[in-house]
Amino acid sequence: MLFLILVVISVLGYVSSAALKDIRPLVIWHGLGDTYDSPGMLQFQSEVKKMHPGIFVHSVYIDQNPKADQRAGFYGKVNDQLDLVAAQFASVPELSRGFDAIGFSQGGQFLRAYVERNNTPPIFNLITFGSQHMGISDLPLCSAYDLLCQIARRAARGGVYSDWAQENLIQAQYFRDPAQLTLYLSASSFLADVNNEVLLPPRNETYAANLATLSNLVLVLFAQDKTVVPKESAWFGSEAPPQDDDAMPFGLGSQVPLTGSELLQSKQEKTIVPMRLQPLYAEDWIGLRTLDERGAVTLATCPGEHMQLTGCWEDLVGKWIGWTFDQV
Ligand SMILES: *[C@@H]1O[C@H](CO)[C@@H](O)[C@H](O)[C@H]1NC(C)=O
Repeated sequence: MLFLILVVISVLGYVSSAALKDIRPLVIWHGLGDTYDSPGMLQFQSEVKKMHPGIFVHSVYIDQNPKADQRAGFYGKVNDQLDLVAAQFASVPELSRGFDAIGFSQGGQFLRAYVERNNTPPIFNLITFGSQHMGISDLPLCSAYDLLCQIARRAARGGVYSDWAQENLIQAQYFRDPAQLTLYLSASSFLADVNNEVLLPPRNETYAANLATLSNLVLVLFAQDKTVVPKESAWFGSEAPPQDDDAMPFGLGSQVPLTGSELLQSKQEKTIVPMRLQPLYAEDWIGLRTLDERGAVTLATCPGEHMQLTGCWEDLVGKWIGWTFDQV
């Protein structure tokens, strides 16, 4: 009899804890070259569900066809994709009260843009892994067999700030050339806008107000990241504009031709402007400083190369995901 009572109590306890727990759903947005339903993304979802039983997970897609979804990571217009994704979130009933979100690589700055521009339903905790919040100043190399990547890379090298590239090549739309900031400001169709970097104010105050509503912003940098240049972009760092001395080797004034390894070295010596020294931060163009002064910005590190999540995501997802709605 006592045994039976214990069984009944524990069953009731289990049922009510799942029902009453009211866990916030999770949205994930995959990175470049990946798709919303790839084996890696599916495995990540199942691991998160094991860690936080009962959690609802939605994986962002631009197209339900995996091939087309993968292509949309390289080609398209980010602003249009964001409109589509905002409509997608609004159409998923489980997300209607808001959610936490994880962005992998470029998915991270896209989710941040969603917060700034839409945020209905709202994001509470946002984690971005190796994202390019201050853009990239070089195009990542492609693997030998990655045709999609190679064609996009070749096209972008033809002129990242051309109208065509800014309409059609995703990476060009977050390319931020420290040596051509004025051109970047006038041409960038996505990153300059969501970073509220404008040639002439006013800036969009909605962006700062919306981002400041986040409960937590967790920015993860990969310590050995050689794909994202500069890797500090994950923490809102960027390369300082070249000084005259630095610019010499690349400019017409160069007298002595440099060898490849010397070029590489002078590239590696580029000065990084960290988040708290960015004008974007100091003047709080996007609400980042407000968040940080509230203690709501966490800078975290994973030890490996870009998107090497193994052994690194668990603590972060354990800590920041799986909260209930009353834990705002
Ligand atoms: C600022 O951004 C919001 C949200 O995207 C938009 O609705 C609004 O039109 C923008 N305001 C200006 C002045 O561009």
